[in-house]
Amino acid sequence: MFSITTTVAKSYRLLVSTATALIIGTAMLSTASAADIATSYNNSCAACHDSGALNAIKKGDSAKWQQLIKQKGMPALIKSVKSGMIQMPAGGLCTDCSDDDYRKLIEYMSK
Ligand code: HEC
Repeated sequence: MFSITTTVAKSYRLLVSTATALIIGTAMLSTASAADIATSYNNSCAACHDSGALNAIKKGDSAKWQQLIKQKGMPALIKSVKSGMIQMPAGGLCTDCSDDDYRKLIEYMSK
């Protein structure tokens, strides 16, 4: 899993124009297990939030994440992921995440 994600992240940096193809490829990997947050993260959010591709806030940048959680509040952030943003596709590439999964994923990235 990790090496696939790393390859995807690297490819993003090299060839943003192929992002769509990679998004489809990654989305197909992300259908299985929303129960395991680390796996869900690796299969979906990591494509952007691991490397900071497309200016996504990086996993582990807790100062930025904490500020955002304080500013907008968790429900608004969950809503952002579900409906998508400027560069983030709706659902963040997770096809079977519940609101609770998104909350856990955001908390996971903020650590
Ligand atoms: C295709 C790249 C991509 C993927 C995949 C992705 N994100 Fe994002 N995300 C972004 C970008 C880029 C931003 C910054 C806002 C923007 O430009 O859209 C962002 C912003 C966010 C924000 C801040 C929202 C706000 O209101 O400011 C949250 C929360 C978030 N992402 C969570 C997630 C979660 C959870 C996942 C996985 C289920 C995920 N993202 C998957 C690219 C991505």
